[in-house]
Amino acid sequence: MILKRLVLKNFRTYKDISLEFNSRLIFFIGDNGEGKTNLLEAISLLSFLKSFRGNSDDEILMWNENTFYIGSVCQDEEDFKLEYGYEINPIRRKKIKLNNDIFKKQSDAFGILPCVVLSPKDLIIIEGSHGERRKFIDSLISILHKPYLDELVEYNRILKQRNVTLKKQINDLKMIEVYNIMLAEKDESIRNKRKQIIEELNFHYKNALENLSGGKDNFTLVYKPNVESKDQYLSKIVTNYQKDLRLGYTTVGVHRDEIFIGRDEKDILEFGSQGQKRSSVISLKTASFELIRKKIGTDPILLIDDVIRELDVKRREFFVDLIRECGQAFFTTTDLEGIQDYIGNLDESRQIFQIKNGTLVETR
Ligand SMILES: Nc1ncnc2c1ncn2[C@@H]1O[C@H](COP(=O)(O)OP(=O)(O)OP(=O)(O)O)[C@@H](O)[C@H]1O
Ligand SMILES: [Mg+2]
Repeated sequence: MILKRLVLKNFRTYKDISLEFNSRLIFFIGDNGEGKTNLLEAISLLSFLKSFRGNSDDEILMWNENTFYIGSVCQDEEDFKLEYGYEINPIRRKKIKLNNDIFKKQSDAFGILPCVVLSPKDLIIIEGSHGERRKFIDSLISILHKPYLDELVEYNRILKQRNVTLKKQINDLKMIEVYNIMLAEKDESIRNKRKQIIEELNFHYKNALENLSGGKDNFTLVYKPNVESKDQYLSKIVTNYQKDLRLGYTTVGVHRDEIFIGRDEKDILEFGSQGQKRSSVISLKTASFELIRKKIGTDPILLIDDVIRELDVKRREFFVDLIRECGQAFFTTTDLEGIQDYIGNLDESRQIFQIKNGTLVETR
């Protein structure tokens, strides 16, 4: 997949810009706070329909403006146009268009422009809660398997209703039973998908990690579902009912799944060094890149936010290999100096954009 054009209007620091890309490797260079990450964020919004930094559309909108717009021309087998528009007043409204047609169901736009983001924030997959690991896996599965996102949304919707009923302390067993049955079905489907994808991801993760650590880090990715089967779900949710009622939320189901990363039953969180954690994150991202490529048959776009310089020589070499293989990669960095050696190895055409005060100048 190649991004050929990016147009931004009122997007964070960008009033109105239009960029043409005709290279595989694109660098955004600028001082701190000039708006490098903002550009990667804009591209990733087209992919994930939300910011990888966790900000809302309201926060992304340029201050004191009413609408923002991201336009793009992408190239897969054929060129297509993907656009994302947001309006805050009089009512908050988001519009996503593919070749001028508005998506009635916006989740259908998810992953049309497949991207893999590498950012210093990714460490949260290792260091954050199991929720962060689930989020990472869910986002990947949503790109690979379209109906998954809808199922997840539906599961969360029913779960919320069940929790509201529990919180109100209404002992409405009939209603609870209806929720239990609806949830059990979604739970099973989500669990099966997670099981399959985590197994496949583990294969690529182990490969990448072996390369990166010279065989030293022998960690695995293991899915630890909250329940193993639909029958078990249905019996556990009945057993836990009094507990759920007391707590005011549901204690059974895929929203409590865990994803283990580590060795010998010990999670990397308990013993991993900074370097091991970083290698793990890069390996996870590389693995998701491989899986997307394999399953949907197109190379995702790599969005690399200021991470190269954090890497030691060995990891940089590994990175160069990854970049050599990918379709297109966007990098941000404060100056090219630190990464000159490393991009020197990529004897390819590249574009360099210098950012200052919300404008970009292409340099060579
Ligand atoms: N909604 C917004 N409207 C206008 N400006 C914004 C908005 N949100 C953030 N900014 C500005 O965007 C800038 C940050 O942009 P960005 O995070 O892309 O910088 P960066 O070049 O990646 O910096 P660093 O090198 O520190 O990572 C800040 O100056 C901030 O004030
Ligand atoms: Mg940044």
